[in-house]
Amino acid sequence: MAEIIVRKSGGLKGTVFTSGSKNAVLPLLAATLLTEQKCEIDSVPNLKDVKVMCELLESFGANVTEKLDENVILVEANTLKTSVAPIGPVRSMRASIVSMGPVLARTGTARIPLPGGCAIGDRPIDLHIKGFIALGADVDMIEDESGNGYVEARAEKLVGAEMYLDTPSVGATENIMMAASLAEGTTIIENPAQEPEIVDLANYLNKMGAKIKGAGTDMIKIEGVPELHGATHSVIPDRIEAGTYMLAAAITKGNILVENMLSNHVVPIIAKLRECGVVITEEDDGLRVSAENANLKSADLKTLPYPGFPTDIQPQFMAFLSIVSGSSTILETVFENRFMHINELNKMNAGIIEDGRRAIVKGGVQLKGAEVRATDLRAGAALILAGLVAEGETVISDIYHIDRGYDDIIGKLKRLGADIERID
Ligand code: EPU
Repeated sequence: MAEIIVRKSGGLKGTVFTSGSKNAVLPLLAATLLTEQKCEIDSVPNLKDVKVMCELLESFGANVTEKLDENVILVEANTLKTSVAPIGPVRSMRASIVSMGPVLARTGTARIPLPGGCAIGDRPIDLHIKGFIALGADVDMIEDESGNGYVEARAEKLVGAEMYLDTPSVGATENIMMAASLAEGTTIIENPAQEPEIVDLANYLNKMGAKIKGAGTDMIKIEGVPELHGATHSVIPDRIEAGTYMLAAAITKGNILVENMLSNHVVPIIAKLRECGVVITEEDDGLRVSAENANLKSADLKTLPYPGFPTDIQPQFMAFLSIVSGSSTILETVFENRFMHINELNKMNAGIIEDGRRAIVKGGVQLKGAEVRATDLRAGAALILAGLVAEGETVISDIYHIDRGYDDIIGKLKRLGADIERID
């Protein structure tokens, strides 16, 4: 089984390039199913999840040309041969659910295996389903002969509707925006997700001929159109990958220029790092993050939907807070179970106490290398960061989670001076 080995590395220094966003590219690829014409997506990160999404598009009948070494993917979904998604890709990647809106809008029916819970929580899809029902679809839960559960939606035609999301779900907002783009009439989504990935998807859909306004605000208006056409688009930079390298500079007391990132996408990360004593300056090519001579101190934080502090940086920030002086409190409000990394960090001598959705991090410890497990993608990133400052050697297993979402993390960290290797 593949493992990552990290050793204490000193302050990381140099420049790192931010790849395209994982959470933006997955719905963009799903959106290509909305048209029979050729689509081109550029600045695509080279990730396992991207490959799984390409497999899913192919299973619906799309022609996919992956040129991941050039960061380009071409998709032509001339005709869809089925509206039933296979179990494999959906079970290995929950984001597969965002193919449901496009397939339903394009073919009038979609059947997707139930993605089920995952390490960070139950992750229900009730808001996606409510959205499809509001647009006029009939939705049923069904079981095949082998007992596999599916959600199936059918609609002779989708009709625009007004709806309110109880929680500003990223995936539900994406699914509804895509389905409503081809519905008859106007759809209004109140309390949608406002993440930059939502704005990127709306921009792409508008390039394809959709009429979407308000993405990135608390109300999105979609005027349905009869058809969409092919379009070319460049994925936005990955704000969570950029944030992870910002934390690599902070935790190792290094000095890193994070290139190709949008600083307005990481405002809470900048604010919290500055509160901890990290120096962050805007340069022409990106953000310089330096903790070289910093007297690092604790800070409390609370995860929230965008523009609040991102849950996808909470584990990495927790690793950092465990070495600064003073005690910090972290409140996780987005997912009910995103603290699996506490146990692993504590194996490395961190002093973190879990109390429901709150974690109390007693800072100022010297982390120690240990054998640990990446319990999910961001937990894996947190363990790598911890390993960079731990005495001795940290051996991380279950690294397939890390492969899902970080483009060349080993190469990028090595070029910054990290002592890290992957053993297959
Ligand atoms: N929720 C519901 N009902 C629904 C949908 C969501 O109750 O129908 C709840 C979830 O259980 C969760 C909250 O709403 O408690 C937020 O979930 P959301 O739907 O916004 O998350 P997602 O679309 O499943 C995306 C990212 C996640 C990221 C979250 C929150 C992708 C592919 N995934 O997930 O990314 O944490 O938004 O920002 O875009 C990651 O990259 O490591 C990752 C987990």
